Amino acid sequence: MAILPPATIGILGGGQLGRMTALAARAMGYGVQVLDPSAECAAKPVADRVIAARFDDASAAAELARSCKVVTLEIEQIGAAALAAVEGIVPLRPGASVLYIVQDRARQKEWLASQGFPIGPYAVVDDARSLAAAAASLGSSLFVKACEGGFDGRSQTRMDATSDPLASFELVGGRRSVAEQALSLELELSVLVARRPSGEALVYPPAVNHHENQILAWSSMPGTLPPGVAHQASVLALDIAHALSLEGILAVEMFLLQDGRLLVNELAPRPHNSFHATELACPTSQFEQLVRAACDLPLGAVEPVRPAAIVNLFGDLWLDGREPKFDAALTVPGTRLFLYGKGGARAGRKMGHIAALGDTAADALANARRAFSLL
Ligand SMILES: Nc1ncnc2c1ncn2[C@@H]1O[C@H](COP(=O)(O)OP(=O)(O)OP(=O)(O)O)[C@@H](O)[C@H]1O
Ligand SMILES: [Mg+2]
Repeated sequence: MAILPPATIGILGGGQLGRMTALAARAMGYGVQVLDPSAECAAKPVADRVIAARFDDASAAAELARSCKVVTLEIEQIGAAALAAVEGIVPLRPGASVLYIVQDRARQKEWLASQGFPIGPYAVVDDARSLAAAAASLGSSLFVKACEGGFDGRSQTRMDATSDPLASFELVGGRRSVAEQALSLELELSVLVARRPSGEALVYPPAVNHHENQILAWSSMPGTLPPGVAHQASVLALDIAHALSLEGILAVEMFLLQDGRLLVNELAPRPHNSFHATELACPTSQFEQLVRAACDLPLGAVEPVRPAAIVNLFGDLWLDGREPKFDAALTVPGTRLFLYGKGGARAGRKMGHIAALGDTAADALANARRAFSLL
């Protein structure tokens, strides 16, 4: 049943993804409450209330749920008891069963493989010895990623033939991890699916993404891809959303290998950095789409009206007391500025992004990069 404005939506997580979801919800006339460990989180200025609590605080999650008609989230790492507490009071979209699958990298990979979805070779490791064994069987070039808690390339390390397994295992925190074979990538893409409780689903065209130091640097959409890949990627993402009985939105990060194979990298059942360009490119942004899916409203149109691209702004831009020249960047036609209102600029911290339109995806990216270079 549709949850209509002016109902209040709860969001677990008040970072930039929660902030932009809250803005979309507000535009539609919904109230918004947020739970975040920081009372001064990015979503604070656009939320009616911030409940400052840890993501494993079940009573705080229950308090959020009691004030809302539906709860969604912007981050996967929410404690099981907190998720259960919400589900006992109002619909949680996406649900706890989806979160359970994605919260642990090993479990996520096991689920994908068990469902027949294509993933790269990997091994689960829990000490230096099993990591050495993984290197022996998968090849010495590996990505080692802690099963829980990593994002933006944190709790990850690369290994090659010269790496010491013990040192590498310690670098990821000495925790249960997955060791993935380093794949020869042609390019990286992601696909965003929205699915309503009824099962109705829509998929955005793929975004093409470029990472630097394992962090997304820029993204364009619709991405320029070899023939057939967009269709294949869309079908794959839709199949995954249906297999999860997803309620909400899901970004599927994918690798296109140099040999032409398309593999799933990882799943994110929430707004995704690589779909920020939907705010310009598409009639319905990913954030509004999440609000619609969570509230069981008709999904919005996803077909891009014009290509767009984004370039991430990291805290590095602010270091040494520097003030980025936003006015200069905005002289580039078709650009928009998104800042997340975060106080502390740190190297590698996502502070905002610049988005730009163009006649083609390449054009849009060139515009976004030109604006970036003027900062
Ligand atoms: N097995 C692999 N082979 C080749 N490149 C990889 C592999 N695993 C990760 N990478 C590179 O590192 C990036 C980040 O990896 P991954 O998505 O697993 O990390 P993350 O911390 O979850 O990042 P994010 O939060 O940005 O999605 C990938 O987008 C890709 O560029
Ligand atoms: Mg990733």
